Amino acid sequence: MRHNPPRRRRRRITMRKWNFCAGPAVISEEVLSEVQAELLEYKNFGTSIMEMSHRSEAYKKVASTAKDDLKDILEIPDTFEILFLQGGATYQFSMIPMNFKHLTGTADYITTGTWTKKAFIEGSKIMNLKEIHSSEDNNFTNAPNIEDLEISEKAAYVHYCPNETIQGNAIHKAPKINKPLVADMSSVILSEPLDVRNFSLIYAGAQKNIGPAGLTIVILNKEFMKEGNKNLPNLLRYSEHAKSDSMLNTPPTFSWYVAGKVFKWIKNKGGLRFFKEQNTLKASKLYKFIDNSDFYSNPVEIDNRSIMNIPFILRDNMLDSSFLKESGQNGLLNLKGHRSVGGMRASIYNAMPLEGVEELIKFMDYFESKYG
Ligand SMILES: Cc1ncc(COP(=O)(O)O)c(C=O)c1O
Repeated sequence: MRHNPPRRRRRRITMRKWNFCAGPAVISEEVLSEVQAELLEYKNFGTSIMEMSHRSEAYKKVASTAKDDLKDILEIPDTFEILFLQGGATYQFSMIPMNFKHLTGTADYITTGTWTKKAFIEGSKIMNLKEIHSSEDNNFTNAPNIEDLEISEKAAYVHYCPNETIQGNAIHKAPKINKPLVADMSSVILSEPLDVRNFSLIYAGAQKNIGPAGLTIVILNKEFMKEGNKNLPNLLRYSEHAKSDSMLNTPPTFSWYVAGKVFKWIKNKGGLRFFKEQNTLKASKLYKFIDNSDFYSNPVEIDNRSIMNIPFILRDNMLDSSFLKESGQNGLLNLKGHRSVGGMRASIYNAMPLEGVEELIKFMDYFESKYG
């Protein structure tokens, strides 16, 4: 039996450690190094990007290149609008019902974890929502096949979350339904190829696979967007944001700029096919290790397991604090599960390389051999 902590290889450029935070999350060192090199002076403009007007030609180029690259990566057709907004994914919990309430007065919501529960509660303050499914009785450890659910005839749209970040509960296949489909993709966007044509509106907070916090991406069908309530203040209207290229007011310029670098990095690595392969490999290695151990376990039904956020519990929760302390000492950061579920959670977004997951598994193996 081995009781020595795994030897940690010294990380590359700095003493950066493996960061398993659910968000704000790890950003690739290649991107951060480029940002660092340009921090004091962007190109030859004599100022940093943060000090530049969002109306300047130089910044407008940064903004439009980022949008074009995102369009390329996700193969977004011209029938869709791409918006770079603020307010986080949480803001969308209200903005969506505000824009589409007037259509029929009601919409269907599917609750599979903490975030969809919040979306339902917030949206219910604005319009009459119907929760057509909740996995709460099962502690959010499973998710339904949406195509099997009874969708309300009057629903203006159907809202769900393909990847519940806290519970690690996923719906892997986009359902085909005959209602506008709205999805919170905060923790799964850009992790694998996606056919946006299955959706009327997709939203995602940036701070996982896109870049720094402060930016929210909304991708929506232009026809659906046109149906939005015209009597709202401009800042609440998708179509007004679209008309002004997401510059109705000052956008989060720095986050948008870094997101643009992340998009280039994704393209250079080989796009979403590459990331799907890498993410599937990382997740399957970790799940396999967990499933083969009787010291660790993951409660989510196999078909609904996330490839981005992997919660696990220790057989004896009295060991949780030692696990967190020793994992931190071994260069593995932010493994604490969300306070609402306890245990541990490893978020393994695009910028977490396979090597980081292998180091985590080595540590878990060592910890089990010491305390198991
Ligand atoms: C799936 C999901 N939805 C919504 C949110 C809330 O995002 P924000 O903090 O950007 O409002 C999060 C945050 O982690 C999330 O993971």
